[in-house]
Amino acid sequence: MGQPVVEIAELTKIYNGTTVVNKLTLQIEEGEIFGFLGPNGAGKTTTILMLLGLTEPTYGEVRVKGFNSTREPLHVKRMTGYLPENVGFYDDLTARENLRYITRLNRIPDKEATERIGRALESVGLSDVAEKDVSKFSKGMRQRLGIADVLVKEPKLVILDEPTSGIDPAGVNKILDMIVDMSRKRGITVLLSSHMLHQVQKVCDRVGIIVNGSLVAQGTIEGLGKEIIAQGENLLEIQVDELNSRLIDSLGSITGVITVEPSGDMLTIRSDRDVTAEVSRVIVRCGSLPLHMRSKDYALEEIYMNYFQEGCPA
Ligand SMILES: Nc1ncnc2c1ncn2[C@@H]1O[C@H](COP(=O)(O)OP(=O)(O)OP(=O)(O)O)[C@@H](O)[C@H]1O
Ligand SMILES: [Mg+2]
Repeated sequence: MGQPVVEIAELTKIYNGTTVVNKLTLQIEEGEIFGFLGPNGAGKTTTILMLLGLTEPTYGEVRVKGFNSTREPLHVKRMTGYLPENVGFYDDLTARENLRYITRLNRIPDKEATERIGRALESVGLSDVAEKDVSKFSKGMRQRLGIADVLVKEPKLVILDEPTSGIDPAGVNKILDMIVDMSRKRGITVLLSSHMLHQVQKVCDRVGIIVNGSLVAQGTIEGLGKEIIAQGENLLEIQVDELNSRLIDSLGSITGVITVEPSGDMLTIRSDRDVTAEVSRVIVRCGSLPLHMRSKDYALEEIYMNYFQEGCPA
């Protein structure tokens, strides 16, 4: 484990008597891609704004590389690249001119800036359209320019708030590749806020799940899956030679089975104890043959739903 780049301790934000971020504590290590997940209104953007020193916490504190975001926001902003939910550009300027504006704002000397802009445009695949007005850019191109905008600062930490929303699948893959590159090739620490669970699952080293302002889980996807299993939940995936409703009903009536979900010739059985032996017996008794049976790992979507349901009993 490296040195933590982000240290959040007991971070709390109360707006007009309503707690929207509640005693959030977490650390993000150097070079990690951390997925920040949660439903609408969970408190993700509010946490990010406190991290950047753009909103003051009611209690608690955030540090980025040791600097307090509330008291030393300039230090934090200098080493942090932030792609907001809705990124804005000067539409009547070209892509290159927009980036130049950012480098001037960040007081990067012109010669150095020219090189950085060239590299940033190259790494987001916009070199060919660098002289085009941004008003002619598609949403995907704008989002990639947003990433270039973050990269020209050569930050230590990058915060991306929903970077793939409204982007087509090919565009999403490009953005995910860029995020992985930031971390693996440049050693940048990345905080990625998103609802897109399968995307997060593809690229994040660890995730934190926030519900109603509270962090209800954090860890690797594998680790969180194991925690659910430790709570007594098992997932069994089986393939049978013949699937019929009698079989599904019989499996559903085994003691401990919570759900039986068919998809194609596969069945996923969720249970609160190990039911492997009974499942085999029931399949054979129903005249089918189990072709393949394995204990299944939890996908991020299932992990998320597990905590989401716990966090929101309503
Ligand atoms: N300036 C503000 N004044 C009052 N309430 C606010 C303010 N900003 C956010 N909130 C409230 O705080 C809660 C958390 O909002 P936040 O934007 O942090 O959620 P989020 O997790 O980013 O959601 P989304 O996924 O929809 O972007 C919401 O209930 C929101 O209405
Ligand atoms: Mg948000």
